[in-house]
Amino acid sequence: MSVRTTPLAYVEDVSPGRGTLPPRAWYASSDAPALSLNGRWRFRLSATADAEDDAFAAPGYDAGDWAEIAVPGHWVLQGHGAPVYTNHLYPFPVDPPHVPTENPTGDHLRVFDLPPDWPADGGAVLRFDGVESCARVWLNGTELGEFKGSRLPHEFAVGPLLRPGGNVLAVRVHQWSAGSYLEDQDQWWLPGIFRDVTLVHRPEGAAGDFFVHASYDHVGGEGTLRVDSEVAGRVTVPELGVDIATGEEVTVPVEPWTAETPRLYGGVLATPGERVPLRIGFRTVVLEDGLIKVNGRPLLFKGVNRHEWHPERGRALDPETMREDVLLMKRHNVNAVRTSHYPPHPAFLDLCDEYGLWVIDECDLETHGFVEQAWRDNPVDDDRWTPALLDRAARMVERDKNHPSVVVWSLGNEAGTGRGVTAMAQWIRGRDGSRPVHYEGDPDCRDTDVYSRMYASHDEVERIGRGLDGGTAKRRRLPLILCEYAHAMGNGPGGLADYQRLFESYDRLQGGFVWEWIDHGITHPELGFAYGGDFGEELHDGNFVCDGLLFPDRTPSPGLAEYKKVIEPVRIEGGGDGTVRVTNRYDFADLSGLAFTWSYEVDGETVAAGPLPVPAPAPGESAEVKLPSPPAGAPAGAETRWTVRALPAEATAWAPADHVVAWGQWAVTERPAPSVAARARPAADGRVIRLGPAVFDARTGALRTVGGVAVTGVRLDVWRAPTDNDNGAPWQPDARYGLLWRQLGLHRMRHRLDGVELSDEALTVRTRVAPAGTDLGLRTVHRWTSDGERLRLAVSVTPEGDWTLPLPRLGVRLGLARADAVTWFGGGPGEAYPDTRAASRVGRWHSTVDELQTPYVRPQENGARADVRWAELGGLRIEGDPAFWFTARRWTSEQLDAAGHLTDLTAGDTVWVNLDHGQMGIGSQSCGPGVLPRYHLRAEPAAFSFVFSEAGG
Ligand code: GAL
Repeated sequence: MSVRTTPLAYVEDVSPGRGTLPPRAWYASSDAPALSLNGRWRFRLSATADAEDDAFAAPGYDAGDWAEIAVPGHWVLQGHGAPVYTNHLYPFPVDPPHVPTENPTGDHLRVFDLPPDWPADGGAVLRFDGVESCARVWLNGTELGEFKGSRLPHEFAVGPLLRPGGNVLAVRVHQWSAGSYLEDQDQWWLPGIFRDVTLVHRPEGAAGDFFVHASYDHVGGEGTLRVDSEVAGRVTVPELGVDIATGEEVTVPVEPWTAETPRLYGGVLATPGERVPLRIGFRTVVLEDGLIKVNGRPLLFKGVNRHEWHPERGRALDPETMREDVLLMKRHNVNAVRTSHYPPHPAFLDLCDEYGLWVIDECDLETHGFVEQAWRDNPVDDDRWTPALLDRAARMVERDKNHPSVVVWSLGNEAGTGRGVTAMAQWIRGRDGSRPVHYEGDPDCRDTDVYSRMYASHDEVERIGRGLDGGTAKRRRLPLILCEYAHAMGNGPGGLADYQRLFESYDRLQGGFVWEWIDHGITHPELGFAYGGDFGEELHDGNFVCDGLLFPDRTPSPGLAEYKKVIEPVRIEGGGDGTVRVTNRYDFADLSGLAFTWSYEVDGETVAAGPLPVPAPAPGESAEVKLPSPPAGAPAGAETRWTVRALPAEATAWAPADHVVAWGQWAVTERPAPSVAARARPAADGRVIRLGPAVFDARTGALRTVGGVAVTGVRLDVWRAPTDNDNGAPWQPDARYGLLWRQLGLHRMRHRLDGVELSDEALTVRTRVAPAGTDLGLRTVHRWTSDGERLRLAVSVTPEGDWTLPLPRLGVRLGLARADAVTWFGGGPGEAYPDTRAASRVGRWHSTVDELQTPYVRPQENGARADVRWAELGGLRIEGDPAFWFTARRWTSEQLDAAGHLTDLTAGDTVWVNLDHGQMGIGSQSCGPGVLPRYHLRAEPAAFSFVFSEAGG
């Protein structure tokens, strides 16, 4: 009798694997050849780990009838199986280290020839830069071993196995393994060989591993260099006249590396077997006076959390996409990246060195799902798993240690606490004492050098800033960083400027990292971008995976424009007396890299502009600069303002010369409120009432036309399609207004007509706006008057009953036919809400109704423009008193609310326009704290008015 035992012990083995080489620095040799094995591979998918034997690994195996797949790639994004999205729940029963019998397993096969000039001597290693989650590897029929640790490199020595003719590389990849328990990051589960596969020649005397130690003494202005190498050799840095032996130390005058001034020196490490190009950045990171300092100065992180993401290729990122990320970050004033929650593709760190970004390099570790069982059985507190954790730490540190951009090591994310993380921290400190250690899951900072929090409220951050948060003695001596804050899911995040003010007010607060960089939407033929649940997953977390500052296709969202403005490295403020105050908010650079311009605007149009010479204040310092005299000739009653902009003095590696880095704007003369004398008499005329240019329905008082423009459905509106941040997260203690609004019925308000009254000068329409089932209501008076040409609507709203909830919005909505082009004078160019309005610049803007929409992957309230003085669309001109929030879309808020994906929205014939007196703030409650009270839209008596006329009339 034969007994079937558990499937393939190595899959469920908690050890990191076997057969691989010790980890080492990642580098590309200048002379030893390498052969990329990326490309088309043969592929066979099985439903279980042991459905097939290993016969396919043998040379001569005929895989002619197998499918083909792209490597790097994920098979579930190439038509085999489907992706699964969960936030923290394991998508399989939790019984570590066991995994389900249903364990999709992809056999990958690649036949390759060595290039004719491949050296006959020396050895070779086969390198995998990333395979999810467990791989077993054979070359020419010989088993090399197996490994786990998806986002980490693994190498095998293969020299003797290579053949001059065809070589057969066989890789069996299991979606689930013991390693999956350590990789419970909030993202799609995407199996496959998703990073490069390379055969690397290793000549005799190759460098192997090496460690570049390049520190900077900010007092003496000198750098000290020492390169420790497994194989002895010489290190040359021609620009510095350096020629030293490995292990030898030299101190020379240098320019330091910082993220603002990413000065790299080209060098070479020459061992007997190869020459390795070095890019050396001199900088010293210390924890001193309770602060993280680089080159003697404290840092302020203006960071983002970056997962690797591409809407078609998942985490298989090509070099152009990585570069695009870096360029987009630099252009949006981002100065730091946390590589949440695993080491990125190594090429990304080269880009960070080159363009200048501070990096918190995070280990591939998260066991968040164990929180469901109060962390019982957490691998991080179980010695059996410690070797795997140490292996992960070592693979990260060894691979990335030579990058000047990496200034902090992070042990992982949301893995609880335990002996395993302590062991990792100890190992890292022993191997590299030159960088602080971070881990948010260690609230007492036992193992870490920085106090790290996620989603702390403004209040709490301020308390920490003031040192009033208590905590262990050690923690009280450490700086705070918010490794995650400002959850950028859907519309938002709100409150960024308020956080930044705190960061700038308290030394202990060293900034934060917005969650997160990009929406992980997957391109989908019917849905536009798919999110959790769109592939029929039995457990999923919906669109929680779309919470980035970029849309999945890398179009910046309004949240990124806001962040750019909030963290701009120069503050530009109007001083009194025709001056401007320019404050340098860089940590290291002076302002000589920037050029300034002024412009003078009359009613939103630039009438004069010119360069503005600004001295170069040192970091933290300001300069007061005189502006030219305002140009004469502005018409009386015009609104005039200055805008001063900072641009690169010349094109940089990351931005063209016309790129605006920072700006400031302030009014010289304010706009006078529009005035309409109530000269025209309303007159009933059969079934209509005429008043100036307008015609109303006599029975209902409803506006029908203004001149030649048909207008429908004018009424009070308080509903907005709840944003993800309105709906909030279940774990947040704040009220979840999106849900409460719906419960109250704000989406089904009834409009009772209480009276249509004519007087000598006004048509007055009284309504009571209220949902069924409650005594709460909004008494509303619409008072229409006209001077014969223009029509004025004065609205007054009086809440009745005990309103405890804020309102989503308060204003008037109306429908227009045939509207397309839009012009407005007010805030733009992009969307803004009360706590997301820093980037909104007053000017004259032109757009179209379609372009006013912000395409949040899950449709929700969007597209409001702030501070609008007037807008023109569909032949109608609308002026506000006071300025208003302007929104126009081809569907109603109710349709927007009902849509699950953008493709559910179909344009109707009417353009629905919202003219809002007030909007509720946005906040960050889809994961973090809600809207700050000062941005609440309270249900209070309100009065506001609009003036309508024919555009161009
Ligand atoms: C954090 C976590 C992130 C992500 C975020 C919510 O708790 O570290 O990975 O899940 O919440 O989007």
